[in-house]
Amino acid sequence: MTILVTGFNGKAGYEVAEKLKEKQIPLKCAVRNVEQARDRHESKFEFVALDFSKSDTFNKALDGITGIFLMYPPGDRMEFETFVTQAVEKGVSHIVYLSVKDVQYMPFIHHYKNEKLIKKAGIPYTFLRAGYFMQNLKDFLYEELKEHKRIFVPAGKGKTSFVDARDIAEVAAIALSNPEEYKNKNYVITGKEALDFYEVARIMSEVMNIKVEYSNPSVKAFKNYMTSKGNDESFINVVAGIHIPTKLGLAKGINNDFEKVTGRKPSDIRQYIEDYKEVWV
Ligand SMILES: NC(=O)c1ccc[n+]([C@@H]2O[C@H](COP(=O)([O-])OP(=O)(O)OC[C@H]3O[C@@H](n4cnc5c(N)ncnc54)[C@H](OP(=O)(O)O)[C@@H]3O)[C@@H](O)[C@H]2O)c1
Repeated sequence: MTILVTGFNGKAGYEVAEKLKEKQIPLKCAVRNVEQARDRHESKFEFVALDFSKSDTFNKALDGITGIFLMYPPGDRMEFETFVTQAVEKGVSHIVYLSVKDVQYMPFIHHYKNEKLIKKAGIPYTFLRAGYFMQNLKDFLYEELKEHKRIFVPAGKGKTSFVDARDIAEVAAIALSNPEEYKNKNYVITGKEALDFYEVARIMSEVMNIKVEYSNPSVKAFKNYMTSKGNDESFINVVAGIHIPTKLGLAKGINNDFEKVTGRKPSDIRQYIEDYKEVWV
């Protein structure tokens, strides 16, 4: 068994690689820049080049691979269907695909189409339909938190089902190491409670002992501000788009699939903030 972990440099992929390593499951980590990854991580992981927009990278990346942790990166022009087809041709026997909660109601998003094409390819799959990553606080929410001690997203007063990407990774590693048991199933992975961003700001303030606020900008104010900071239009639209279901009250569903798979309760956001609090001060 050898697992290919795509999106190793991302919020979920890295955690999946860590969990597989803990389980001593052989793995290769896919990155676009192998040299850079080796410089950062030395010999801790084995790296292979993979760019979903360059189909000539697929064959080598898939050599000797039996299972894949598959993520879909931001951006367009991905040769995703070709990648899945080649994986089947090369004898990969299981894909754990990182999808999104409530995907079944959103036929216009990539994940809906990707789940369909993976099923159509006839390869055993496990779909992990994830809630809102706590790790977003260290990603696209980071700059405003660090510089202005505020959460700046247009999510209104809506709640969202925060989940720790380390929990998603735990489920992914379990599924990848037991394909027979987990194949052809969907799991909705959320934390134990849905929170609004006022509550998150309050918890951050308590844990970090500094005042953190939630700005609750309108979508328009969010876009104008992000544009004035020089952000890319497609990035701004993606971040705004992620928060619309939250604003509309559609993102608050909680599910106990994590506990069913792992036998324990999911991590909570207070613990997550505690673990990384130095990052934002
Ligand atoms: N954030 C959330 O709350 C959330 C919730 C549910 C589902 N998701 C889904 O999770 C996925 C994103 O995962 P993530 O947040 O772990 O990633 P991420 O932190 O956004 O990191 C992006 C990753 O994509 C890789 N990448 C970018 N362009 C690529 C390309 N052309 N070919 C191959 N790899 C490429 C990067 O690899 P290199 O650095 O090597 O270039 C990096 O590993 C998305 O599909 C998103 O919809 C996110």
